[in-house]
Amino acid sequence: MGVGAVGEAMIRTLRRRRFPMTELRTLARSARTIEIDGENYEVQPTAPGAFEGIDIALFAGTEGDKGASAEFARAAVDSGAVVIDNSSFFRMEPDIPLVVPEVNPDDLDRHEGIIANPNCSTIQMAVALKPLHDRGKLTRVIVSTYQAVSGAGRSSVDALREQAQAIAAGKEPPTFPDCFLGHVMAFNLLPQIDSFAEMGYTKEEWKMVKETQKIFHDASLKITATTVRVPVYIGHSESVYVETEEKITADEARELFRSVPGVVVMDNPAKGEYAMPTDAAGRDEVFISRVREDPFIPNGLSFWVVADNLLKGAATNAVQIAEELVRRGSVRSN
Ligand SMILES: NC(=O)c1ccc[n+]([C@@H]2O[C@H](COP(=O)([O-])OP(=O)(O)OC[C@H]3O[C@@H](n4cnc5c(N)ncnc54)[C@H](OP(=O)(O)O)[C@@H]3O)[C@@H](O)[C@H]2O)c1
Repeated sequence: MGVGAVGEAMIRTLRRRRFPMTELRTLARSARTIEIDGENYEVQPTAPGAFEGIDIALFAGTEGDKGASAEFARAAVDSGAVVIDNSSFFRMEPDIPLVVPEVNPDDLDRHEGIIANPNCSTIQMAVALKPLHDRGKLTRVIVSTYQAVSGAGRSSVDALREQAQAIAAGKEPPTFPDCFLGHVMAFNLLPQIDSFAEMGYTKEEWKMVKETQKIFHDASLKITATTVRVPVYIGHSESVYVETEEKITADEARELFRSVPGVVVMDNPAKGEYAMPTDAAGRDEVFISRVREDPFIPNGLSFWVVADNLLKGAATNAVQIAEELVRRGSVRSN
């Protein structure tokens, strides 16, 4: 449900991964016909009755107490669907599993109709942290993000294009009250994503902390985040620093990363090979590069993680959850 930036990526992902479907229903706020990859889809307005007969409802609507998830997710469950929700609305509810299939797939077994998809920047970091945590137990995580504008929805992509075109033409760039907090994003960096919350951190930064702790079932995991919006259309990048109880060398870390399905290690600095957003855009995998040991802290490691925020950060992770539910036989079949 929702045919914005993530909703469209979901439709493509379901098709590309040949998810078994007898019907694909598209819902949004307003009715219209949309075209994706040469195929037309009739979008219907979302209403409580619109989920009748649906087995899996992928939600990619708006955030907040009055958002699409708050308004319709329970109605979808009452109709018999399992909801996989991309918004942050249910993520921190204790009884609702928050799942990255590479990390905590077994949490799916305790769902009661709603499963939350984590924040895009959390998902790619969690995939990278998991093998290190299993091998050496994480004691500290410090992350700085470089997040693409598509992470803020389709309107932000259009806004960046307009600003960049204006600046390139030597004109004053337009600003938009609903995009980039009213700032100019083109040829700039924005060290604020979402509003400020406790201790001077933004809500996006707290999401990375709290969601990762929930996914790893470890509320004591020490994480600090700085999240930054960058003028990139697609692909979030992260500089991650970890300390572990057990020493993990850079070579060993690369091997651990390579052993994770869905991770691509691209790490050959001598040849200038490392992942950039342009490498990850359009791909389902999480890319890891620049793995190196801390010269001063014995058990410290730095690395660079890049993923397509609309795919692994949203649509792919949601569809992987749906695939896993089918594999586990926990979806009603009509
Ligand atoms: N973009 C990302 O990288 C990313 C990653 C992870 C999670 N998310 C989350 O995924 C969700 C969707 O994000 P997005 O980037 O796709 O946003 P978007 O491009 O702004 O699209 C939002 C879609 O939701 C529909 N919608 C909004 N309010 C609705 C309502 N009350 N009832 C029914 N449909 C409604 C809109 O319908 P109309 O088209 O009719 O207006 C639109 O199709 C958000 O919660 C976001 O936080 C996004």
